[in-house]
Amino acid sequence: MSETMIPPELVAPAFNPATFANRDDVHAIFTRLRKDYPLSQVEVPGYDPHWIVTKYADLREIARQDEIFHGGDRSKTLISQAGEELVKQYTGGQSNIFRSLVQLDPPEHQKYRSVCSGAFSLDGIKAALPGVEATAKIFADKLISLAPECDFAAEIAFLYPLKVVLDLIGVPEADHAKMLELTQWLFTYADPDLKRPGSDLTDPQEITRTWGIVFEEFEKYYQPMIADRQQCPRHDLASVIANGKIDGGPMEHRALISYFIIASTAGHDTTAATTGHGMWQLAMRPDILADLKANPDLIPGFVEETIRWASPVQQFVRSATQDYEIKGRTIRKGDLVYLSYLSANRDEDAFPDPFTFDHRRSPNRHVGFGFGGHTCLGIHLARMEMIALWKEIIPRLKSVELTGEPRMAESEFVCGPKSVPIRFEVE
Ligand code: HEM
Repeated sequence: MSETMIPPELVAPAFNPATFANRDDVHAIFTRLRKDYPLSQVEVPGYDPHWIVTKYADLREIARQDEIFHGGDRSKTLISQAGEELVKQYTGGQSNIFRSLVQLDPPEHQKYRSVCSGAFSLDGIKAALPGVEATAKIFADKLISLAPECDFAAEIAFLYPLKVVLDLIGVPEADHAKMLELTQWLFTYADPDLKRPGSDLTDPQEITRTWGIVFEEFEKYYQPMIADRQQCPRHDLASVIANGKIDGGPMEHRALISYFIIASTAGHDTTAATTGHGMWQLAMRPDILADLKANPDLIPGFVEETIRWASPVQQFVRSATQDYEIKGRTIRKGDLVYLSYLSANRDEDAFPDPFTFDHRRSPNRHVGFGFGGHTCLGIHLARMEMIALWKEIIPRLKSVELTGEPRMAESEFVCGPKSVPIRFEVE
């Protein structure tokens, strides 16, 4: 029988964004937890107690039950007590600054999700394919023009998915850089290169302050666009969201702004992280590049493995609305539950040889896109855009190697390589 309480010193580093700069350190923590504390609680100083869910099957069991495990009653992401206290001051008692889909719970969640579910369905996304393929070609051409060396993360991985999703929303190209910056303040608030300038990371409330600023910046940016699209709807996602109806009426203001925020943030940093990992693997493993060049129909499987491998969303937190029995343990009503997607995707009981990148892995039922009612809304778009990019790049890439160590962002939330320096030859 495994232990019920995890020694705090074992988990404390996983609550620290800096640890995530070193993938081996992070995996060592979660591998140990899967083995000795697969479903146990921890009380890290400065944080409320959390159940840490590290096993694939447990994560799916919990994530599937979104009536029982809520996203909006407490902070949806890991936050210190001091940070959550400040959120409550900002919001008049709520635990989240944002009210996007991830923080909404049934029955409200489904109503908000339906506003965009058509646009993000397989059929909805098909309409976007020609535009996405054209963008993929632009970025493949850019890569070729940069030969023989570039930083793939900075030049391609960050910028391609940004353009794909912001074009769909209807954000003018001149504003894409601003959107990238705000996203990085939000998701990588603690990374020395990507954080909001001037933020003071020694202060445990800094995350809340930064997120408050990010909300206000997006609100200022999107309010005129919302008014414009409500008066003159166009064929873009901004028009779909701005005119979305809940029970026949308009969306609540904070939820409307948050809808724009999640669409403009969740849709690219995650994909960028995954794409950066993809090139990193190609640079380490010439056998994979050769196989993909000879068998382009393996590209979708390669993409799927990059998502499992990268697991860019490290965690989301749920809180229990009632007592719940699992593995002989009782999660009590009100308890916080930390879902480690990263750990579940390396679970030895779910994936043979989980620490081997296997682009031919089949089946590959990873939880990189989450699981249950909150499964990534952009799942089809993400796959489609990554497949489109690799289909352009792989036939033109003769060889690739690293010219230095890729550098991971310091983030315990959305995390991926911020630099992948490569030398490459083109066909
Ligand atoms: C939700 C991962 C790309 C939009 C999620 C969740 C994960 C995730 C793990 C689950 C959140 C939870 O458990 O509460 C990823 C990964 C991506 C990706 C790994 C790329 C490789 C995208 C794209 C979009 C997007 C391209 C497009 C805008 C969303 C939205 C949600 C979400 C709106 C909230 C869904 C809900 O709560 O109902 N994503 N995502 N994501 N994702 Fe993605």
